[in-house]
Amino acid sequence: TVKPIVNAVIAGAPASGKGTQCEKIAHEFNLVHISTGDMLRQAAEDESDELGQQAKEHMEAGELVPDQLIIDMVAKRLNEPDCKEHGWLLDGFPRTEAQAKEMQKLFLVPSKAILLEVPDDVLVERVTGRRLDPETGKIYHMKFSPPDGEDAEEITARLTQRADDTEEALRTRLKSFAANKAALSAAFSDIIKVIDGNRAPDKVWEDVKKFLSA
Ligand code: AP5
Repeated sequence: TVKPIVNAVIAGAPASGKGTQCEKIAHEFNLVHISTGDMLRQAAEDESDELGQQAKEHMEAGELVPDQLIIDMVAKRLNEPDCKEHGWLLDGFPRTEAQAKEMQKLFLVPSKAILLEVPDDVLVERVTGRRLDPETGKIYHMKFSPPDGEDAEEITARLTQRADDTEEALRTRLKSFAANKAALSAAFSDIIKVIDGNRAPDKVWEDVKKFLSA
């Protein structure tokens, strides 16, 4: 039997665990993981990338980047052959009503949507403890999931912290998430599943996997 192609979106507050779950989803379901945050951070690192430089200031302050900028970036990426062949997993998009409407206009319709729910006080601890491995892109948390194994020391030494992972930027990010949540729930009310993200990653994963497999 041919497995039907899944196109999914995942949403949740900053540090609710989207990236962590996406790593598992992309691997299990062989979907192309498209994180708009990662795309924007990559563009922002390239000083000759005009859109990236424009995005950088917004991101560091914890604000959303302008709709049109991100819509163009996503539309272009989703039209690439790997997305059509394997299906896509959109992480962090759409985040506003305009973005959700634009998706519909472009016939980019997901079959499943996930919303991770985590209380605000837990998010603060996750954001301040998060570290990234610039070599592998892997996400760690200094308390909840630090590097382990033989090369733990080497990995720990090269870990970096995101510029917007401060309590101040987090407050702004939490406010824009309120708008994100409303837009998403409205646009995808018939396909959305709310999942409790305030549990160990493997427990959250059990529910995510079950929902995407059904
Ligand atoms: P983006 O990169 O999407 O950031 P975000 O939504 O704030 O989400 P995060 O990446 O912070 O968190 P996450 O949910 O992936 O959590 P993670 O798995 O890392 O966007 C950044 C910026 O880009 C935005 O502010 C905006 O400026 C711009 N942008 C992006 N998309 C846009 C759009 N569509 N429109 C406009 N602007 C846009 O986990 C966090 C930490 O917790 C980690 O350390 C992890 O190890 C730990 N952790 C994860 N799960 C668990 C668990 N279950 N238990 C304990 N610890 C856990």
